[in-house]
Amino acid sequence: MLDQAQLAEQRGDWFKVVQKRNNAINAVLARATPTPEPRPDDPTNDLEKLGDIHTPSKRAHNYLRHYWRYFRDVRYSARKVVEVGVQTPRSINMWEEFFPNATIYGLDIDPRCAEFAGGRKKVFIGDQTSEAFMMDFIAASGGDFDVVIDDGLHTTHSMFRTFSFLYPALHSRGIYVIEDIQEKPYVLAFLHSLLEAVNFMPPGAMNDWPKLTSFPQGTPWLVRNTVGVAFHRYIAFIERGHNPRDNPFLVEPEAYDARLAAYRAQVVAAAEELQRAGTPVNNETLLAKLGFGLRNHITRYLENRS
Ligand SMILES: C[S@@+](CC[C@H](N)C(=O)[O-])C[C@H]1O[C@@H](n2cnc3c(N)ncnc32)[C@H](O)[C@@H]1O
Repeated sequence: MLDQAQLAEQRGDWFKVVQKRNNAINAVLARATPTPEPRPDDPTNDLEKLGDIHTPSKRAHNYLRHYWRYFRDVRYSARKVVEVGVQTPRSINMWEEFFPNATIYGLDIDPRCAEFAGGRKKVFIGDQTSEAFMMDFIAASGGDFDVVIDDGLHTTHSMFRTFSFLYPALHSRGIYVIEDIQEKPYVLAFLHSLLEAVNFMPPGAMNDWPKLTSFPQGTPWLVRNTVGVAFHRYIAFIERGHNPRDNPFLVEPEAYDARLAAYRAQVVAAAEELQRAGTPVNNETLLAKLGFGLRNHITRYLENRS
C-alpha cells in the first residue's frame, strides 16, 4: 500500500497519496479502543448556546462552531458588526446578545426586515450590489466595522461587489466572512489568490525575512492588508491586518544588519581559530565549534568564501 502511495506522490496526486497512506496507517494501528464519537463540545461555547435559543438559518449549516472560533476573541471588543442578509430577527438578535458592546447593522433588500430594528440593532434596506446604497450605508454608519458577514444574495456577483465595498470599510484588524461559497469557483479562486497574498514574500527576502518590516512600493493594498484566509465547509473567513508589520518580532533593517554583522564576525573568528590550529575550515568543523544555531551564517560565510 505504501508503494502505491509513493507512486501517487511522484505523480502529484495528493488526494490518492493521503488516502493510500491512511489505509496503510489504519491497517497498522487497527485500534482496539476508538476515541468517543462525538467528542465533547467546548463547554465555553456560548455562541452554540445562543444559536439553540435564536435558531438563525446559519445554525443549520453548522457555521456557529466556526464563528465561535473566530469571534470569541473579539466578542467584547467589537463595536460594529454588519450582517448582510437579515430575513428574520433571529440572526441579528443572536449577534446582539453575543456581542454585548456592539451595534448590529443588518442589511436586507426586503423592506419587511426594517421592523426587526431596535435595541442595539439597526436595519438598512437596500441592495447589497448597489454602490449608491452601500456607500450611503458606510457613510451613515461611519464604517470601521469589526465584523462583516455576507449572508445575503449568495451569487458570485454579489459576493465580489459586497467584498469590494465592505472589506476596505473594515477596521484595520477586522474579520470578513462569506457564507455559502460552495459552487462559486471564481470566488474560491479569488480567495485562493488572497491566500497567496497572505504568504507574499518579495524576491530575495527569504533569508532576511526578519527585517521585512514593509513590502516594496507598489505592493497591492490587499496584500498589505490581509493576514489570514481560512476555509471551512461552505464558509470563508478573511482577516484584515498589517502584513507583514503585525509580526511584533520583526527587526528594523539597521538593527538586523548589525546583528548579522556580529554573527558573521563570530564565524570569521572561529574560522581563523580553526585555521591557526591547522584544522580544516568547513561546515562540519564550524558547526562543531559554533553550534547549530549559527548554521545559516556558517553557510553564508562558506558560500562567500568560495
Ligand atoms: C439566507 S437569508 C439571511 C439569513 C440570516 N442571516 C440568518 O442567518 O438567519 C438571505 C437574505 O438576503 C436577502 N437578500 C437577497 N438579495 C439581496 C440583495 N441583493 N441585497 C440585500 N439583501 C438581499 C434576502 O431578502 C434574505 O432575507
